[in-house]
Amino acid sequence: MVVFGGRSGEHEVSLASARAITAALRKGGRHEVVPVGITRSGRWVHSGDPMRELESNHELLPDGSTLEISGPPAKAGEKLPANLGSVDVVFPVLHGPYGEDGTIQGMLELAGVPYVGSGVLGSAVGMDKITMKKVFAHHGLPQVDWVGLTRREWKNEPEAQVRKIEAALGYPCFVKPANLGSSVGIGKAEDAEELRTALEAAAGFDRRIIVEKGVDAREIEVSVLGNEAPDVSVPGEIFLQADGFYDYEAKYVEGGMELGVPAKIPAETADEVRRVARTAFEAVDAAGMARVDFFLERGTDRLLLNEINTIPGFTPTSVYAELWAASGLPYEDLLERLIALALE
Ligand code: ADP
Ligand code: DAL
Ligand code: MG
Repeated sequence: MVVFGGRSGEHEVSLASARAITAALRKGGRHEVVPVGITRSGRWVHSGDPMRELESNHELLPDGSTLEISGPPAKAGEKLPANLGSVDVVFPVLHGPYGEDGTIQGMLELAGVPYVGSGVLGSAVGMDKITMKKVFAHHGLPQVDWVGLTRREWKNEPEAQVRKIEAALGYPCFVKPANLGSSVGIGKAEDAEELRTALEAAAGFDRRIIVEKGVDAREIEVSVLGNEAPDVSVPGEIFLQADGFYDYEAKYVEGGMELGVPAKIPAETADEVRRVARTAFEAVDAAGMARVDFFLERGTDRLLLNEINTIPGFTPTSVYAELWAASGLPYEDLLERLIALALE
């Protein structure tokens, strides 16, 4: 069963990942795939053509008015597909909250159905950037300085929050919803006015907000695959085709980015990237797959861990799969490995 769509700001990205995964699994009649879609409002679609039904109601770019992460709850009866118990394995292809965060993983644990990827703990810790950074810090992994706050703190005492952030981080800084991905809701602030605007925007997506010190850095990513003692791919480097940061357009609009693979970094740096990626994977208790993203600071060559993504973008041209292809593991074999790992 491939589950896709979902209530997060990354709904659209999930459809692209799921289309590619479904097609590859069906190729040559290797697997029978049961598609299950979840609409933006949380309705489960498991009859007819779920992909077509979700596609008929899509938007290309995120729009805050429809991408609130806390959509209305689905009716209880619509939640569970009746055929859940009859499938061998579920592949949750859901990016962001309500899918990558432990929620569907918890449901599948309760139902006793094997599934691809991280369990409840790894998914939840990997999703929330504040908790993720605390766990990484405990393991001594290098990161940017950051400050966490809640929507309530921002609404109740905005100027005190601005002063606290300025004192701790200065400018530029990056403001993010703690639970999201694909750069949705992220803003870069160069001054107090931009900081207020970015905090207001992030607060529209999440109850928890993280602000990070901005670094001028190359962006290096690696793919991890396995359960215990996982394999790590060759590192790749993200090259942006326009000024600015690695935002939603750069990620998903054709020609927005180019992947340099293998990344042109010294062998010792590549080894360190792999070591830190494996430690990050184990630190959050991830399983199956993850993409781990880094900053390599210009000038100092300081390696900083940015984040782990437990359900990374998953088309054949997504970074996760490209890095495995460059490491000798083609897309279809990658899917077979993930299914085998889910059944371990
Ligand atoms: P997401 O989970 O949405 O991918 P990230 O934390 O990876 O969020 O941030 C998205 C992008 O924003 C990064 O790939 C990078 O281009 C930019 N960015 C985020 N944080 C920083 C930072 N502290 N310094 C510099 N650039 C950043
Ligand atoms: N959150 C997106 C899908 C990624 O990390 O690839
Ligand atoms: Mg990222």
